[in-house]
Parts: sequence; C-alpha cells; structure tokens
Amino acid sequence: MANEYSLSSWPDEREIYAKMKALVGGRVRALRRDSLAGYLDYFETRCAGSKAMIEEAKKYIPGGVQHNLAFNYPFPLAVRKAEGPYLYDVDGNRYVDYLQAGGPTLLGSNYLPVQEKALQVIKETSPCTGLFSEYELALARIINANMPWVERYRSLASGTEADMVAIRIARTFTGKKKIIKVGGAYHGWSDQLVYGLHIPGTRTFEAHGIPAEASANTQEFWPNDTAALRKLLEANRADGGTAAVILEPLGPESGTYPVTRSFNEEARELCDEFEALLIFDEVVTAFRVGPGGAQGYFNVRPDLTVFGKIVSGGYPAAGGVGGRADVMACIAAGVNPGKPRAYVGGTLSANPLSCAAGYYAIKEIVEKDAAKKAGIQGDRLAAGLKALVEERGLPFVVWNTGSIVHFEMAGLMYLSAADPDIVPKIGERKRAVEEFGAALTAKGVITLAGSRLYTSMADGDETLAQTLAAFEHALDSIERD
Ligand SMILES: Cc1ncc(COP(=O)(O)O)c(C=O)c1O
Repeated sequence: MANEYSLSSWPDEREIYAKMKALVGGRVRALRRDSLAGYLDYFETRCAGSKAMIEEAKKYIPGGVQHNLAFNYPFPLAVRKAEGPYLYDVDGNRYVDYLQAGGPTLLGSNYLPVQEKALQVIKETSPCTGLFSEYELALARIINANMPWVERYRSLASGTEADMVAIRIARTFTGKKKIIKVGGAYHGWSDQLVYGLHIPGTRTFEAHGIPAEASANTQEFWPNDTAALRKLLEANRADGGTAAVILEPLGPESGTYPVTRSFNEEARELCDEFEALLIFDEVVTAFRVGPGGAQGYFNVRPDLTVFGKIVSGGYPAAGGVGGRADVMACIAAGVNPGKPRAYVGGTLSANPLSCAAGYYAIKEIVEKDAAKKAGIQGDRLAAGLKALVEERGLPFVVWNTGSIVHFEMAGLMYLSAADPDIVPKIGERKRAVEEFGAALTAKGVITLAGSRLYTSMADGDETLAQTLAAFEHALDSIERD
C-alpha cells in the first residue's frame, strides 16, 4: 500500500486568516428562529428516548453527561450502536458520524478486524493482569516502525495523562521548569496545561479550582508568533530556562488556527538554540495525518511525542508518550541509579486489551492506507461545503487538512481576549454554532460541536451526499440581511 499522507496540499493559511478576520469582524449569522424551531421539533418528536434518559441521568450524574464532546444542544443523544460511518441513537435514528469519537476511529467505528482481535485478547489474556504482555511490545514496535523518532514508548491511560507525563519528563531531563505552549491549544485538562485553552490569551477562563501557582511556570504565545516565542525563551534563559515547548503540529485545536508551513521547523530551531525540548502533541494527528504522523509530514523531529485515543484504536485507556531514548530513560521502570527519574504510574496502563486494540488498529490503518483514504473523503467534503457556502454568499470559512475538516461559522477561537465584550460575544457565537450543530443532527449528521468534521476510511459517496444535503438545508436556514 502507498501509505501516503492524508493531506493532498497545505491550505493557504493567509487566506484562512483573512477570511477568519472578516468572519469575526462581522455580525453573527445564526439560524432563523422559525427554522430553529423546526429542527428542535425533531429532537422532541424523534429523540424521546434520549431525552428521557438524559433527564434520568441528571439525577445521578452531574449535568447528566460525562464527556466534553457529548454536551450537545438541545440535549445529548444517547448512542446505542456504532458501525462504519454511522451512529444510531436509542430511538433508532441513524447519523453520519463526523465526530469519530474526537478523532481515533480512522478505520470507521467498530471496525471488525480490530474488534475480533480485541475480543480474542479479552477471552485469552483478560483485559488486565498487571504483568507484561506481548501486545505492549507489539504496540511500541509498530509505533516506532512508522514514527522512527519515537525510539521508546510508554503506554498511559489518556492524552491528558500523556501530556502531563511529557512535561514532567522534559523537566526531569533538562532540570528546567518553564513550559511554553501555544495559546488556544488543548493539551488535556491538567492543572498546568488547561491554560488559555480554546481562545488564546484567556488564561484564567477555565482555571477554576486551580491555584495560580500551579500554572505559574506555564506560558503561552500567540499561534505562529515565533518572535514572541523567542522573547519568552530569552526571558526564561535568565530565569532558570525553558524545559519544553509543546505544540500541536497542525496548529491549536487540530489546526483551527493553522500553522504556517515553516512554523514547526522554526520552533525546532528555537528549541535547539535555547536547549529546550520540543514536544509534539499528536493526540489527533498521529496516524490520522499519515502513518508517520504530523512529524513525518513536516519532517520535523520532536524530542517527545504525545499520543492519545488512536493508540488504542478508540478502545479504552488511550494514551502514551514516546521519543528520544535518552530523554525517555527518565521514566524507565525500576531503579536507575545515579540518574534523575520521574515517577509515572498507572495500574491499568499498558493493559493487554488497550495495547492489542492499538496495535491491530495501527496495523490496519497502515495496511489499508486509511489515512490517505480518509483524506480523500476530507477533500471531497471540504470542496462540497465550500461550494455550498460560496453559492450562498455566506462569510463562513471552510478548509481541510486531509481528514480534518474545519467549518467555521462564528470564529470562536479567533475572538480577542483583550476585547472587553468577549464574554457576551463568546455566548452569542457559541449559541449560533450549537444551534447549527443541532440543525445538522436533525438532518442526520453529527459533527464535533458544529464546527469540525473528522472523516474516516468508512466514508463514501452515500455519506457525502447525505452530509452535503444536511448542510444545504441548514445553510438555507441561516438568517440573511
Ligand atoms: C491535542 C490534544 N491533546 C490532548 C488531548 C486530551 O486527550 P484525552 O481526552 O485522552 O485526555 C486532546 C483531546 O481531545 C487533544 O485533542
């Protein structure tokens, strides 16, 4: 198989920024109220089972929902079945699934060859023994075979954990404290990294319950602003130094704010100059951008790579960190005399089920050229959406990097934290996106919060046609001047 990268070209980021600027500078375009009422009627009449279940769940679960991605308007759907490109709710409605569990199900949901292997492992080995299994080795080896800069790999339980571990390793290895991230990037919800997430510069927005000192050594710079990164590195040099710069290589939020083509390379050079480690958070991009990850696509070597949901193929306990052998030695198991060692644990980490599911999922992704196939679907979908938006003269912005398709109708991430009216603006724009997401769902399409669509190898003509029809309906329902 060809195993090419999923991106047929790099999007023109200057054009995207210009369009996003116009989008954010203009008024919000929401659904007409009468159309919204029609879409909401779908949820009342066709989703009664989900509604009742969520109401009941509120009695036992705070807010009724446990996962960030599931907080959908007007209420979350209870999903009973997932198969290929489709999800089915408890009321029997079918949806095209572009949430893809937040990205990992590149092969399509519940991909049979992986499911069969996972079941076999449960039967033979059990999901967990606490001891070493062959699948740990198989997983680490297949990651290394495709991403050779990941010389050593450690399995963990989530992307959040892996991000936490990566910065701990960086501090142990370098003996320095400061961590620099890009504003707006999500690197999990740990005290030190849930900082300025989603909107650059909004450092305290989501920081309730976190003492200020917990993130005192976390700094951020505006996406793509390498001059600002240099300034931080320089200032830190006089203050104990920078342990690591952590980046999503496509740009924050899966490239919602896309990087310039040379950004990662420039960041690498700055890290070398200031003797800081470079960490790539490839929770979404590893294997989805291509078997070599975003690091392979850009041909930029990170010192450490953070992995998430895809390293278990969407099965539970999904995360890991890998990288340079000398750096990763900081978390070597057992005693490492005379060397500083970062403590990292996890009873269920590297369990046979997660490792086997990850190994077989990656094997299938590579053998079936899943990233490339999903990328072709992403190109087709983005082209279709772009045409629909342009035909209607709407200011919405559509672009894709392979199988990651961005549909921006409100530009939340591009709001300025310095704007005194940012809070009401977030509210208004978020509402418009949520309502649009609900319209799409009512028409049989599930997206990531109405603004991002992950395609998979399972997509095809039928899902594309259904999706474009749903968007057409929703876009025709947008209020006009
Ligand atoms: C880039 C990135 N890093 C880290 C995480 C956190 O991963 P997890 O949800 O497994 O904790 C996510 C989750 O979506 C992510 O997109």
